[in-house]
This record gives sequence, structure tokens and C-alpha cells, in this order.
Amino acid sequence: GIIILDFGSQYNQLIARRIREFGVYTEIIPYNTPISEIKKHDPKGIILSGGPSSVFGDDAALVDKELFEMGVPVLGICYGMQLISHLLGGEVKKGVKGEYGKSELTVLKQNSLFNGIAEKSTVWMSHFDEVIKAPEGFVVSGKSNIDIAALANEEQKVYAVQFHPEVTHSEFGSKMLENFVFNICKAEKNWVLKDFIETEIQRIKNVVGDKKVILGLSGGVDSSVAAVLIHRAIGDQLTCIFVDTGLLRKDEGKKVMENYGKHFHMNIKMVDASERFLTNLKGIDEPEAKRKSIGRDFVAVFDEESKKFDDASFLAQGTIYPDVIESQSVKGPSATIKSHHNVGGLPEDMKLQLLEPLRELFKDEVRKVGVELGIPRELVYRHPFPGPGLGIRVLGEVDAEKVRILQEADQIFIDELYAHNLYDEVSQAFVVLLPVKSVGVMGDERTYEYTAVVRSANTIDFMTATWSKLPYEFLELVSNRIINEVKGINRVAYDISSKPPATIEWE
Ligand code: XMP
Repeated sequence: GIIILDFGSQYNQLIARRIREFGVYTEIIPYNTPISEIKKHDPKGIILSGGPSSVFGDDAALVDKELFEMGVPVLGICYGMQLISHLLGGEVKKGVKGEYGKSELTVLKQNSLFNGIAEKSTVWMSHFDEVIKAPEGFVVSGKSNIDIAALANEEQKVYAVQFHPEVTHSEFGSKMLENFVFNICKAEKNWVLKDFIETEIQRIKNVVGDKKVILGLSGGVDSSVAAVLIHRAIGDQLTCIFVDTGLLRKDEGKKVMENYGKHFHMNIKMVDASERFLTNLKGIDEPEAKRKSIGRDFVAVFDEESKKFDDASFLAQGTIYPDVIESQSVKGPSATIKSHHNVGGLPEDMKLQLLEPLRELFKDEVRKVGVELGIPRELVYRHPFPGPGLGIRVLGEVDAEKVRILQEADQIFIDELYAHNLYDEVSQAFVVLLPVKSVGVMGDERTYEYTAVVRSANTIDFMTATWSKLPYEFLELVSNRIINEVKGINRVAYDISSKPPATIEWE
């Protein structure tokens, strides 16, 4: 397949997704992976990604020049282009103000990368430094606001672009990547999810043999698909542990037992630990402190339970590709706005081997595998649910009564979204319970009860989001149902904040 050397750009996963969409296998690996290692992947092509680094810094992220002697086509994107110039004898200038956003690319010289691309087109730029002299053997093939926006050495099959072909704002970006992958690298279409399932089932059988596996099932998409896939391979050698934190959606435990226990005949050990989670949350109202308390309890409960399965040799997890890239990325840890770790994590003294059958897949691929394995579409396309659950949706101090109130209200909102075919139109929808009481009137009586906030966001990557423009009549119906049916709530508000500056969750 195609290897993407990761120099830390936020767009790297997009490059990989585009290529996978072509049906070609691709992997993102750290830029400092030794050449000997890279050779083992037997790449058909190598992409040098963008990144925050500058070729000038003391800590510049460089690669061995040997990379260009492997006889494998190379495409440098953004920082990758500067790196190619720097290593092969061109000249890079430190940027003065940089260039961000849309720009117009003019093709100066046609080549295999630009096949089928208009002479002028929109591209997306995000860079500071720029190339001011092409290395020997290279032709300047495109310009934008800068003189050298693209370089090509057709003979050596080395190409470079200063813009980002992987983002959708680059008009012919996808076409360029397609040209690179098929025309230049001659890669084959060999990435088919059906094959993935067959191969993975065989691999799990070989690796596990007659040993036993445990898996923490959360009811979320990743752990559920992992569970069903492993179950397909080894049947009853798999036991799932489902921890009821008391902070899950209404009847979640019951539904998991029905969907995965009854329907798929999987062994599921259900652990009701809600008392423990709620007790330890007493007196805590700060969001990060709540996350820590919930995370700590989860690890402890899971550890205790898994130790009961002392004949297990493997711990299976629903780790997916973005998790893998995140943990290996060359970027430093960015500022913690919220500690987004999924509750769980590995107890340090665990003697189990890890089994992670989804670690090569993106979320949309995991969903397709799930559907292929026969998991109902509704479960596979569920909105994400945060690890700490309703613990961070009951604002401030959490107690059992507030959780119950929130569960009821949330269920109404979600049911109505499904009933009005709106569930799939929004990315994440839920109700938040405020610790604020206000006055209302019901019948002839004065009420003094809590306020619920209905929240729905639309987003592609959950990094930025807008509030969903749900129809007024729909919101009115949801509000009426919640106030009339949920004892403890007498007022409903709709959240019209975007992210940034707000976030999707309230805590
Ligand atoms: P925010 O609130 O930061 O959320 O806009 C972005 C996405 O992350 C989810 N989220 C979490 N997921 N543990 C998780 O596993 C957490 O502590 C957590 N906090 C937020 C949130 O639901 C949204 O999908």
C-alpha cells in the first residue's frame, strides 16, 4: 500500500481516509521510522505529510535521504515539500507572514500528478515557510500567491505541493491524490472490508488458539463491533464484561444484554457498580474532578472483575485507528481543555496480552464492518456517548435522583428524533440537567423545579460544531413532552452555542 510519514499535521488522517476511499491500503507511521522498517512495508508510494516543524529549527523533523533512493514514488505535502527541497538541494525561506486559507493554483507545467486538472483551481494553503529555489532535476509545476507552489521530478517520480490536496476545499485535490496513487505508484485496489473481516477472523483464531479472552463492552460502537467480530472467530472463548456505572443512558444495561447477549449469544458478565460510582461522586462538582473519580472507579471495577477470570490470556479492546495515531503522534500534547480519555485504560500490573482487531480501521469503516456482521444499523450509527456519561451531563454534583430525571428527559428527546427522522441528520444530541430551579405553574399549582437543556450539534470532526437548526415545532413537542412527563423538570431551554467558543458537552 501507500505509506504516509507523519510529521504531525492535523490533516494526516484525511490523507489516509481519501486513499482508503480509493480502495487502497494505507498506513500512517511516524516520520522517524528507520528506512529499514519502511522497506519492510514494501510501499508502492510514500507521502511526506505536512507538519508544524520548520526545516530550520534545531529540532527539525528530518528523514534520511536514502528515502529517495528506494525507487519508490514520493509525494511531499506542505512541510513535506519544504523537506524535499531542503534535502535535495533546493532552497527554503523562512516565512514572514505565512499563507492560510484559499488560494488559486495555476498549473505552469503539466505532469502525471496534475493530469486532468484545470489550469486554474482553488487550493487550500496553510504554511509559514516557502520554497524559493527548486532542487536540481525539479521543474516548478505550479504557482499561487507564492512563486513555487508545486514541484515535480517526473523521472525520479518525486512530486511536491505546498497546498493540501487532502482537504475538500482543494478543488482537484482528490484527483491529484488519485493520480499519485494509481498513475504514479501503480497501487492496486486491494482494500475491501469484506476481506478484512475474513482475514481478521482467521488471524484472531490463529493468535488466540484455545485460550480465553475478556473484553470490556460499553455498548458503544467500537467495543460492540470488536466483540461481535471476536465472537465470530472464537465463540464462547470470549467473555464480555459490562460495567453499569449508573451513569448510562436509560435502560442501557438491559438493551446491551438483549442486543448482544440474547441476539448474538455472547457471554456477558454484567456488573452493577452504580452505588460505588455515585458514592464516590458525592460532594464533587468540578467537571475534571468528576471525570477523574469516574475514571478511577472504572479502572478499579474492571480490574477487580477481570481478575475473576484468571484463566483469561487476552484482553480485547475496541481501539480504532485514530486512537492509535493519536498515541503515536509526533505532536506534543496540546493543552488539556477536557481530558477526553475514554474511561478505562489499562491497569498497570495486568498480565494479559492485548487483542485489538479494529486498530487499522477508521470509524466509518468500523461501522461498515458492524453492519456486515449483522449488528442492527441503529446501534452501529449511534451518536457518540462520552466515557463519563451522564456524570458530566448532570451539571455540578451528581446524585441518583438527578440521573434518573436526566435519563427520562434524554430518552424522550432521542425517541422523538428517531420518530421524526432527524436522528441521522444531527451528529450528537442529548439533554443536560442544570442544578438551577425556577418557578412554573402546572394546573393551579406553583412548581419549583429543575431546568433541562436540549443540546444538538452538527459536526464532521467534533473539533468544531454548530448547533442543529431543528424545527421549532419539533422543539416545542420535545419541550412539552419533557415538562409534562418528567417529574422534576418544569422548564426546557435549547442550546444555540457553537463550538468554539462553547463545547459540545456542558462540562
Ligand atoms: P466537547 O464537549 O469537547 O466534546 O466539544 C467533543 C466530543 O468528545 C466527547 N467527550 C468525551 N468523550 N470522554 C469521552 O470519551 C470524555 O471525558 C469526553 N468529554 C467529551 C463529546 O461527547 C463529544 O462527542
